[in-house]
Amino acid sequence: MAILIDGKSISGKIRGEIAVEVKNLESQGIKPGLAVILVGDDPASKVYVSMKEKACHDVGIFSDEYKLPADTDEKQLLELIHRLNGKREIHGILVQLPLPKHINEAKIVEAISPEKDVDGFHPYNVGRLISGKPLFQPCTPYGIMVMLKESGIDLSGKEVVVVGRSNIVGKPVAFMCLKQNATVTLCHTKTRNLPEKIGMADILIAAVGKPEVIKGDWIKEGAVVIDVGVNRLDGGKLVGDVEFSVAQQRASYITPVPGGVGPMTITMLLHNTLQSAKRLIHRS
Ligand code: GUN
Repeated sequence: MAILIDGKSISGKIRGEIAVEVKNLESQGIKPGLAVILVGDDPASKVYVSMKEKACHDVGIFSDEYKLPADTDEKQLLELIHRLNGKREIHGILVQLPLPKHINEAKIVEAISPEKDVDGFHPYNVGRLISGKPLFQPCTPYGIMVMLKESGIDLSGKEVVVVGRSNIVGKPVAFMCLKQNATVTLCHTKTRNLPEKIGMADILIAAVGKPEVIKGDWIKEGAVVIDVGVNRLDGGKLVGDVEFSVAQQRASYITPVPGGVGPMTITMLLHNTLQSAKRLIHRS
C-alpha cells in the first residue's frame, strides 16, 4: 500500500515558514504585495482568486485585488498592468486565466514585468526555466517538485513520465524534472501505447484533466504517482486523473485528490511573491 504524500500538511509547514519570514520583513518596514486581477465572473476563477486572497492575508502578504467586468477591453487591462509594473508596493502580479475571448491572453501575459511575474508564465521566465536558470517557476509544477523533495524522492537517473503537455503544468514540470537529472517522457493525446509508456515510469505525473483515465494496473509496482487532476464527477465527488483505488495498491507513494497537489499551488504563489519582494527590495 502506497504512502500518501500529504500536500495539505507540506503546504501548512511552508506557509508557516513564509508567515515567519513576512513578519521578519515587516519589522524592517517591508510588506510583500501581490496584485491579483480577475476579469469577468467565471465561477471557478472566482473561487481560486478568493482562495489566493485569503492565503495572502493568512501569511501577512498585502493582497491588492482588481475585479474587472467581463467587457473590460484589452487596452484598459494593459494600462492597469503597466501601472502595477511601476508600483513599488507590488512585488507580484497575477492575472487569473482564462481571460474572456476578446482579450489576447499572450499579449497580457507579456505585458507583466518578468520581475513581477509570480506565475512564471512570461516568455522570459519560460526561457529561463528551459535554460535551467529559473527566475520564477510556475506554481503547480514547482509545488510538485517541492512535494517530491519533502518526501525524500530523488529524481536523478529515474524514468519520469508526464501525461499532459499544457504550458501551466506538463511542459514546465518536464523541464524541472530534467534539471533534476531525470529521463523525461512527455506524453499527450496523440501518444501511442500510453499504458506501455506509463508502465516504464519510476515517477508518473498525471496532468490530463480527465477523471481516472489512467488505470491503476498500468502503473509499475513501486512507482511514485503524482496526480494533478481535479475532476468533479456528476455526483459531486472529486477524483484525479489516476484510478486511485487500484494505483494505491501498486505505488510506493501517491498524492490523494483532494489534498495532494492542489494545496501546493497557492503555497508556491506565496513563496514566489515573498522571494520577489526580497529581490526587489534589495535592489531599491
Ligand atoms: N488558471 C489556472 N491555473 C492558473 C494559475 O496557476 N495562474 C493563473 N494566473 N491562472 C490560472
